[in-house]
Amino acid sequence: MIDLHCHILPAIDDGARDLSESIKMAQKAVEQGIDTIVATPHHLNSRYENPKQTIIERVRELNKVLLEEKIDLNVLPGQETRIHGEMIEGFDVGEILPIDDTQYLLVEFSSSHVPRYTEKLFYDLQMKGLIPVIVHPERNQEIIERPEILYQLVKKGALTQITAASICGDFGKKIKSFSLQLIEANLTHFIASDAHNTGNRTFKMREAFGVVQEKYGNDMAFLFKENAALVIEGSHVYKEVPERIKKKKFFKIF
Ligand SMILES: [Fe+2]
Repeated sequence: MIDLHCHILPAIDDGARDLSESIKMAQKAVEQGIDTIVATPHHLNSRYENPKQTIIERVRELNKVLLEEKIDLNVLPGQETRIHGEMIEGFDVGEILPIDDTQYLLVEFSSSHVPRYTEKLFYDLQMKGLIPVIVHPERNQEIIERPEILYQLVKKGALTQITAASICGDFGKKIKSFSLQLIEANLTHFIASDAHNTGNRTFKMREAFGVVQEKYGNDMAFLFKENAALVIEGSHVYKEVPERIKKKKFFKIF
C-alpha cells in the first residue's frame, strides 16, 4: 500500500520529533501494510519552511537509515504546501516540491477558510502542468459549511485527499460523516494517513480501508489504492468512480 501524505521526517515540522520517532513511524507504517510512503513536511504554513532541496536531502538520509535498520519501507519526497499567492513563483525557483516530482502537488488550506484566489491559482498551477491535490478538505470549516466550493474546484481539475483517521471518526462524528459524504459524492480521490507520530496522529490506513470496504465494497477500496499508485507513476488517476463500482444509492451529488 502507498501512503501519499505523512510527516515522517525527523525534526523538520510538527511530525516526528527525532530520528527514533521516524523509525518507530516507519515500523508502524510497515505493520499497516504500507511499502511506499511520501514524506510531506509542511511548507510555509506560517510555522515551517521546508523547501524542495532540504526535503530531498532529508529523505535520502532517512532511506539510508531504514536500509541499515532493515525496515522495508521506501520513502519518497513530497511536500504539504500551504496555499499562498506566490506558489507559481515558488515552483519556478525550485522551492515547491510535487509528490516525487510528478505533476501532483499537495495543497493545504487553513482549517477555517478557502482563499478567494484559490480558483485562479489552481488554474495557473494547471497551466504549469501541475495538478493540485487538496489535503483533508473534510477538516476545513468553510468546505464543511459550503461543499459546493469543493465541488467547483474538483470540477475545474483539482483532486482531493481525505485523511484516514477522519474516516475512522478520530476527528469526531461530524468529520467522519462529511468524509463519507465526500466519497459518496465522488469528490475525493485518495486516502492518506497524514500521520504525525505513532500516538494520537498515527496511520489508521488499515482501519480506514476497513470502513471503506465494509461500506462501499472491495472495488472502491481498490480504486483509492490504485489512484495512489497512479500518482507515484505520474499517470492519470481515476476522477470518476467507474460505473461498475458505483452503487446508485450511495453516490449522489450535493
Ligand atoms: Fe499533513
